[in-house]
Amino acid sequence: MEIAIETARLLIRELRPTDVEGMFDLDSNPEVHQYLGKHPVQSREETLGVIDFIRQQYIDNGIGRWVMIDKETNDFIGWTGFKYVTDLTNNHINYYDLGYRLRQKYWGKGIATEAAIACLEYGFNQLGFQEVFAMADCENDGSNKILAKLGFSRIETFDLDGEPHHWYHLDKSEFQNKE
Ligand SMILES: CC(C)(COP(=O)(O)OP(=O)(O)OC[C@H]1O[C@@H](n2cnc3c(N)ncnc32)[C@H](O)[C@@H]1OP(=O)(O)O)[C@@H](O)C(=O)NCCC(=O)NCCS
Repeated sequence: MEIAIETARLLIRELRPTDVEGMFDLDSNPEVHQYLGKHPVQSREETLGVIDFIRQQYIDNGIGRWVMIDKETNDFIGWTGFKYVTDLTNNHINYYDLGYRLRQKYWGKGIATEAAIACLEYGFNQLGFQEVFAMADCENDGSNKILAKLGFSRIETFDLDGEPHHWYHLDKSEFQNKE
């Protein structure tokens, strides 16, 4: 069954190959990739590979990042939701990571926060998650602010590809107490 979560402004659904233009605009922008390792994509073919990679996770892991669509205009905003992480990351493996990445024209409107709250509600209450992790480059003020607002606890700082990152944790009871 396809995921469909609605918020005041957003439709959150699975990523499709037809999202290639929005995904390319998102991932070819160096500003978007400032705190993501600075490797923006170079071509639509590369973007189609990313879309395939995420859709394969739906099959292999039952979950992967979802896209945010502007309900009024039908425009592609970016992606959010959960990745089931199967590579060892900061000594953790096989856990749910919350993330978000928006096209630059949608920054600063509260959209990442609105989407993250809806995803966490869905993850904890519909998918039965007990805990969720997240991480952000220590200098990524926007992302660190969102995670703090959502109630995540900052556990420690670790090195990811030579860049210091904050490591965050949120369990179901902490999220429910915050609601
Ligand atoms: C980081 C990002 C997701 C923020 O999305 P957004 O929709 O603009 O965030 P919100 O509007 O929900 O902002 C939440 C809070 O963070 C603040 N904030 C957002 N961007 C900020 C920035 N660059 N610097 C400082 N504060 C920022 C907002 O003012 C808001 O604070 P408030 O609630 O006190 O008003 C977006 O800039 C983005 O996609 N960046 C590129 C990809 C990325 O870095 N993803 C995260 C990887 S960990």
